[in-house]
Amino acid sequence: MRLRRIHPDPAEVAVEEVVAGLELGRAAPPERPYVVLNMIATVDGRAAVRGGTREISSPADRAMLVHLRTQVDAVMVGAGTLRAEPYGRLVRDPALREKRRREGLEQDPLACLVSGRLELPADLPLLADPHSRVLIATASKGTVERATASVEYLRGDAEQLDLGGVLGALRAEHGVRSLLCEGGPRLTADLFARGLVDELFLTLAATVAGGEEGPAIVARAPLEELVALELVWVLEAEGDLYLRYRAQP
Ligand SMILES: NC(=O)c1ccc[n+]([C@@H]2O[C@H](COP(=O)([O-])OP(=O)(O)OC[C@H]3O[C@@H](n4cnc5c(N)ncnc54)[C@H](OP(=O)(O)O)[C@@H]3O)[C@@H](O)[C@H]2O)c1
Repeated sequence: MRLRRIHPDPAEVAVEEVVAGLELGRAAPPERPYVVLNMIATVDGRAAVRGGTREISSPADRAMLVHLRTQVDAVMVGAGTLRAEPYGRLVRDPALREKRRREGLEQDPLACLVSGRLELPADLPLLADPHSRVLIATASKGTVERATASVEYLRGDAEQLDLGGVLGALRAEHGVRSLLCEGGPRLTADLFARGLVDELFLTLAATVAGGEEGPAIVARAPLEELVALELVWVLEAEGDLYLRYRAQP
């Protein structure tokens, strides 16, 4: 998949080259993983159209996502996203699992699912995948039934989990140094509110959705303090922009 790099150093680049060797874990603070978000929005700011991202995502956007999954120890997803999109094995392509191995990572990332109420779809393909390692952060004392994946739990006290504590446990107990959060908007809102986001990979889809339905990439109340972002790169394919930002401390 070819993209045009606009900034820095204009050039034609391949997704697999540009999203490789990022060594995100090296930048991790001692108490938690380095956290990067990957999100998509239309030019009018909609992060979901008719309940999902299928209509706004392109092959290049999906390539970006699958390659970002080769760069991290763990992938975090909120329950609302899991209820909206059918998540299966996170790295399906054996060549991409090999890419992970070459970069010193486990062949499958740890999937960290966040659901205060433990309301996950019973038929979630990820839970039926025998190769997947899944950690569920929840306040519920329950367990998921009929899972073929290897499933562990990280139990919190309140339905609104302390994500700083969740990330701390991922680092201390599971050795997670780099984490990709794929949303959704309520989970990203909690991460931003707690100052737990280090980078944002944002696809700006060259499309207008209109209307007042559908969240932005960060939901809930406005943040108490604006989060300033530093632009790292701008890529383009078929009019869609791929923006990489670093959160300024
Ligand atoms: N544009 C994009 O890049 C993008 C990315 C992802 C999703 N989406 C879209 O966003 C929509 C879903 O939005 P959403 O905001 O509902 O997604 P979400 O953030 O994935 O899910 C919210 C749910 O996650 C759990 N959760 C999040 N933060 C928590 C915390 N601190 N403690 C405990 N539980 C927590 C809760 O689950 P329980 O209710 O189970 O307790 C909460 O109801 C879908 O339409 C999806 O397609 C868009």
